[in-house]
Amino acid sequence: MNAIAFTDVSKSYGNVLAVDGLDLAVEAGRTVALLGPNGAGKSTSINMLLGLLRPTHGRIEVLGTSPDEAVARGEVGAMMQSGELIPELTVRELVDFVRRLYPRPLGLDEILQMADLTGLVKRRAGKLSGGQAQRVRFALSIAGAPKLLVLDEPTAAMDVESRLRFWAGMRAYAAGGRTVLFATHYLEEADENSDRVVVVARGRVVADGTAAQIKAGAGGQTVRFTLDGQAAAGLDALPGVTAVEVEEGTATLRTADPDATVAALYRGTSLRVRDLRITGAALEDAFLALTQES
Ligand SMILES: Nc1ncnc2c1ncn2[C@@H]1O[C@H](COP(=O)(O)OP(=O)(O)O)[C@@H](O)[C@H]1O
Ligand SMILES: [Mg+2]
Repeated sequence: MNAIAFTDVSKSYGNVLAVDGLDLAVEAGRTVALLGPNGAGKSTSINMLLGLLRPTHGRIEVLGTSPDEAVARGEVGAMMQSGELIPELTVRELVDFVRRLYPRPLGLDEILQMADLTGLVKRRAGKLSGGQAQRVRFALSIAGAPKLLVLDEPTAAMDVESRLRFWAGMRAYAAGGRTVLFATHYLEEADENSDRVVVVARGRVVADGTAAQIKAGAGGQTVRFTLDGQAAAGLDALPGVTAVEVEEGTATLRTADPDATVAALYRGTSLRVRDLRITGAALEDAFLALTQES
């Protein structure tokens, strides 16, 4: 069953086309990263998913029903890019207050532990640091034990330490067979914390797969070695090679099949190959290549 299904969804703000024919199906139980640069349409898509915005065109289903109905049933938890906390309440009061609004909430201690708030229960919300307040927002988003958890750039304003703890909590929540969709513009976050990365740019899906597949799809791998002044002729004809560059005595071959390229390099040429290195395309390169194409 799909937890989320966008079918040809578009959204315009006046003459700004923020989401442009988005098709996206997310299987229940998965953790999916919506990865894209600022302005890609991530928040607009999430707001439509939560029933806060209506699509200009297309259809959205959440947990087998409409976004409004799924949210009204308390089956969807969300952590948005902004959202005020009641400053006078302590962390414990706030979390407990919100969990009691749901028919089948998580236990208070379970929530506090997952959000790494056990040391802050008596702190008033108004006195929290940015990262701590984000962890409280996370606690509130999981309080009702939602089947679908939606997080819009959840680690904004968090330091490195808070981030690590936050993602550990998110993974613990997801491990209970729940579905998680999170938006990020950090490649490493998508890579490390999701089963599937959906890359969006200009309101469209430009790549979709595991982080490894996305890296492989954008330019493959690189075989590099020292040429020491030998002629580079013929390198572009080696199996798998899609591009050859020679700079300062070093040859760089882009290849879709590094094993075949290297075997042919040794067997099929008379070159003396020194300092051979094979590297995968960085996710960063893949991401830039994907989101900058027009
Ligand atoms: N309320 C709005 N009115 C007009 N334009 C908007 C509004 N919200 C977002 N946009 C525009 O829509 C596009 C997508 O924005 P958004 O969904 O916030 O992207 P992201 O979350 O990926 O950064 C951007 O060009 C943004 O400027
Ligand atoms: Mg956004």
